[in-house]
Amino acid sequence: MTTFSDTIIDWHHQHGRHDLPWQGTTDPYKIWVSEIMLQQTQVTTVIPYYERFLQRFPSVQTLASANIDEVLHLWTGLGYYARGRNLHKAAQQIVNDFSGEFPRNLDDMMSLSGIGRSTAGAILSFAFSLRHPILDGNVKRVLSRVFGVEGWYGKSAVAEKFWLLAEEHTPNKKIATYTQAIMDFGATLCTRSKPSCAICPLQKSCIAFTENRIAELPSKKPKKPIPVKTCQMIIIQNNHDHVFMLQRPPTGIWGGLWSLPQLELDTDIKTSLSEDFGLSIDKIKIGQVFRHTFSHYHLDIQPVYARFIDNDYSKNKIQDTATAWINFNKTVELGLPAPIKKLLIATNNK
Ligand code: ADE
Ligand code: SF4
Repeated sequence: MTTFSDTIIDWHHQHGRHDLPWQGTTDPYKIWVSEIMLQQTQVTTVIPYYERFLQRFPSVQTLASANIDEVLHLWTGLGYYARGRNLHKAAQQIVNDFSGEFPRNLDDMMSLSGIGRSTAGAILSFAFSLRHPILDGNVKRVLSRVFGVEGWYGKSAVAEKFWLLAEEHTPNKKIATYTQAIMDFGATLCTRSKPSCAICPLQKSCIAFTENRIAELPSKKPKKPIPVKTCQMIIIQNNHDHVFMLQRPPTGIWGGLWSLPQLELDTDIKTSLSEDFGLSIDKIKIGQVFRHTFSHYHLDIQPVYARFIDNDYSKNKIQDTATAWINFNKTVELGLPAPIKKLLIATNNK
């Protein structure tokens, strides 16, 4: 039977990357530097940095005794500078705590600054051909798609599932080849968007492909539900086909746009409008609640229809807010927030 790892390794022989500067060495120092640089940076960006770094710091000893400023200087442009600091610190740990020799077991490797479980696994497999799974972003994507693993990796139960699967499919032989192969497979074939399923050797068994779920695997971090706020929007009409509007202050939500009087849900409408604008109203009718969604919350709007009692509509006390009676047909010409426009159009069509 052809296993997952056989297929990945076969694919790698033909289509994998074989000439990267950190390949063809088993020097754990060189491998370590490459893995740290590659953690958050693309291969093509890394290459010149990697070469300069190794030229200046050819061994863990030279790095350990270097000045941190010089290390960071060589890191300039790579980003995520904590990686450079951790590299320097780990070099000193190796010199001081491990007599200058890279540890060959997972726990000691992971005790070094900046080395997590996946990076430790990669170094142990590349440098010492020790069988350890890796689980970087590329590998997570491949495993979740091929085996249909659901759930967000940030949840510990999901992370555990991924590590078990990674462990299960890590072969006993050709571990270094497999490690490079699955990285390359994720980076070049089973890419985040538009993976090359048409030429993929795993297509027939891949759950994401066969169930048409590529876009939903791997599962993303669940979005926090956004809060729901409520308000009532008062549409006050007079006997001259005008609607009472006010201009929002220049800053804040809907800054400078024309809107309607907006009250909290349980506010007494008659009292408020009288106090705030000197408006006496009657004939209150409650409309249908509708939702407007902002980036950070939903606003459930309760429309309320009211009629201005006095025939002389100029008799309203205009305060510091800019207010105006606007001909219903002209309201849409103002700068209006989308939900207010929608509400006014719906009202006018009644
Ligand atoms: N990303 C992380 N490690 C890598 C490696 N060894 N080769 C290519 N890309 C990588
Ligand atoms: Fe990835 Fe597509 Fe291959 Fe499945 S079939 S492993 S989604 S490239």
